[in-house]
Amino acid sequence: MSRSLVVSSVSLRGRMLGGLLAGAALLSACGDAGSTLDPGGTVTPQSPALAEPLPAEVLSVLNLPSTPDNYANPSLPSHFRSAYVRASDNTPSDNALTDAGATLGRVLFYDPILSQNRSIACASCHAQDKGFGDPNPVSQGFSGGLTTRNAMPIIDSRYYRNGRFFWDERAATLEAQVVGPIQNSVEMGLTLPEAVARVQTQSYYPPLFKRAFGDEQVTSDRIAKALAQFARAIVSYRSRFDEGLARSGDIQASFSNFTTQENQGKALFLGRAGCAVCHLDSGPPAGPPAARPNQALFFIETAVNNGLDAQIDVGDDGLGDISGRTADKGRFKSPSLRNIAVTGPYMHDGRFTTLLQVIEHYNSGVQAHPNLDVRLRTSPTGPVVPRRLGLSAADVQAIAAFLGTLTDDALLTDATFSDPFRSPTRR
Ligand code: HEC
Ligand code: HEC
Repeated sequence: MSRSLVVSSVSLRGRMLGGLLAGAALLSACGDAGSTLDPGGTVTPQSPALAEPLPAEVLSVLNLPSTPDNYANPSLPSHFRSAYVRASDNTPSDNALTDAGATLGRVLFYDPILSQNRSIACASCHAQDKGFGDPNPVSQGFSGGLTTRNAMPIIDSRYYRNGRFFWDERAATLEAQVVGPIQNSVEMGLTLPEAVARVQTQSYYPPLFKRAFGDEQVTSDRIAKALAQFARAIVSYRSRFDEGLARSGDIQASFSNFTTQENQGKALFLGRAGCAVCHLDSGPPAGPPAARPNQALFFIETAVNNGLDAQIDVGDDGLGDISGRTADKGRFKSPSLRNIAVTGPYMHDGRFTTLLQVIEHYNSGVQAHPNLDVRLRTSPTGPVVPRRLGLSAADVQAIAAFLGTLTDDALLTDATFSDPFRSPTRR
């Protein structure tokens, strides 16, 4: 990419930049950092103009490197480079993940000016060391009000195949989702024009917008895009599970870096306990185990009912409250199970404190909800009879131990996802 391309007219530059960024998206979706991409070729996400060093006034407020950290091309292991994972990437063509865009998103994510009384940021409810979730069952908004649901951990949202966000999937895209909390009257309590005005007045933002989008203009669309890029950059691929899978190449095999108990838990998760049919495989009909197309993403396919309650109309009916359809009542999305050991409490209302309680729910506590997913019933037809697993206490412990192998300490402590502000008083 030559500098001359960048100095042409603004609209031409916008179009070309869009094309280049879309190209970068395709490549980064392949995620093969080990491949022989031409480092000086047209695939670099940032143009030379956009990679200009940040001015001193920005660096005095923010602890950022002068060239952006790498978010667009993580060194993903091979199980993340499968056709299944590539097809699950919900990155839209007009918002490719770039290092400069995710850097801007990171600053916005940690900036409390996005809440009415400047008291909380996205990160207040989505803490890095808690898998970008909240250890409280419900979260406190800017003026002490409580959210009605548990804050979802933000992990691998880039790969939620269904591309819909929140427990009830009411946000059609991540770009639409990320500006929801800013406007929510309990969470952050600003209008989008107010948010734009606040961002515009901070001296550290214009250079970051310029690097991310080509000029200094602050718009709510760009705020949404940058926050979505940062969220999509939060990919978890460095857990002990990933290490074991990379070594063995087969999710069914015993992993040499696992304890006996963890391997037993993995076998139960994939087999008899039937967790994988929802949380790993692509939904019914599950392929034969050897043909598992997905060994990387611990998402469910779409919102379903997992038998937490026996009744409909319990106050929060998830998808059913959005669609108005009785058949959707009690159906919820599940966040990724990656890092699940640190993202408690669990379920949309945070009702379970420990993983043992969650597993015991599936073992013996599934309720005969009219919309209970067929995979949790004894029979797909006839009256709803919840399946009972008959797991021993040792089996329950083993599944919990396996879930613990999905904890990705490298991500939870990665400095490139941490608070970039040098001092809270400078904001
Ligand atoms: C006051 C706490 C709070 C704040 C502040 C907050 N969130 Fe959330 N977040 C939540 C809760 C609660 C949910 C689940 C809400 C629901 O489903 O109705 C959620 C859900 C999400 C999800 C959906 C994940 C998924 O898999 O569907 C994303 C992404 C997200 N928040 C990003 C953000 C961003 C970006 C910001 C800052 C602009 C932010 N949040 C600020 C509490 C908060
Ligand atoms: C029928 C599909 C299905 C099956 C089978 C299933 N789950 Fe779930 N799981 C869900 C849904 C849906 C949710 C979210 C429900 C809610 O919050 O209302 C969920 C939530 C969870 C959560 C909490 C996620 C969070 O972030 O709060 C954990 C942990 C979990 N499941 C583990 C398991 C384990 C372990 C098994 C096997 C014993 C299993 N699941 C079997 C559908 C399923």
